[in-house]
Amino acid sequence: MQTATAIAHPNIALVKYWGKRSVALNLPAVPSLSITLDSFRTRTQVVWGVDADAVHVDGSPAPAAFAKRVTDFLDLMSPNRPGCMVLTENNFPSGAGLASSASGFAALAVAANRAAGRHDDRTALSIMARRGSGSACRSLFGGFSEWKLGSRPDGSDSHAVPVASPNYWAVAMVVAVVTERAKAVGSTEGMERSRTTSPFYPSWVETTPGDVEKAREAVYERDLEALGQVMERSTLKMHGVMMSSDPPLLYWLPGTLAVLHEVGDLRRQGIGAWATMDAGPQVKVLCMHQDAERVVEAIKPHVRRIHVLRPGPGAFIDDEE
Ligand code: PMV
Repeated sequence: MQTATAIAHPNIALVKYWGKRSVALNLPAVPSLSITLDSFRTRTQVVWGVDADAVHVDGSPAPAAFAKRVTDFLDLMSPNRPGCMVLTENNFPSGAGLASSASGFAALAVAANRAAGRHDDRTALSIMARRGSGSACRSLFGGFSEWKLGSRPDGSDSHAVPVASPNYWAVAMVVAVVTERAKAVGSTEGMERSRTTSPFYPSWVETTPGDVEKAREAVYERDLEALGQVMERSTLKMHGVMMSSDPPLLYWLPGTLAVLHEVGDLRRQGIGAWATMDAGPQVKVLCMHQDAERVVEAIKPHVRRIHVLRPGPGAFIDDEE
């Protein structure tokens, strides 16, 4: 019996991933680029070699669907594995609109790998985490990271790579929680619906690699305006694809739009702030850390909760047990 514990942080895509070229392997139709955040984290302990599988979330037995996702992932990782106990906890509210599946599968991949006595490198762990949830592959790296599209059919070249370290640039993500209601349509189902029905999907796939190029250059140059512009364009394009799917995927609420307009007003007042949204109504605002309070003040009237987060580290083994 071996035990290992890992910590991973969620990440927010600046240039988005939406659409799969393989559902079975979780291979993306587009590359993407993200920031891994600090403060919010998943901590996961894996005990390798117990009588029967058991999965606990925040101290209670996990719901069946969640437990199955975890044990299926362990089966993928190690088809002849022994029974495993997985204890996982998030220090952030599940309604925060921060994909806990990204930090969750990154932490699980790192902890299970170590508990199994393996020492896979970060690239192999990123590929493994991708199988659990696509965006999880980016949480293996801290700061800014890019998920390479890859071209091999087996997915062995579709993983994240580091772009810039957490302290490279003093930016912040202001996370505006518009509602705590659970999302209506999950990402895999939504992506397949967009791929098969949205008339805009082909141009989304065609133009996103260029957006990643621009975003990567903007990070290298520390050019917030260039990064913010390409980031907003990517999210609005993605939501255009979502809204034009059949039936439509309309994730926005009135509060979403109110925050978007406040962010536009802030820019007109000279504050560098740009917005991004995922498969839900929450808005995340990218700005310099010193401007975060101004952003908070402006959007506060429209939202339920606000978190100010900074770039954080990639997933790691937690030795403090
Ligand atoms: O990794 P998934 O299946 O949770 O998909 C994430 C999709 C978006 O959050 C909408 C975009 C992204 O790149 O994270």
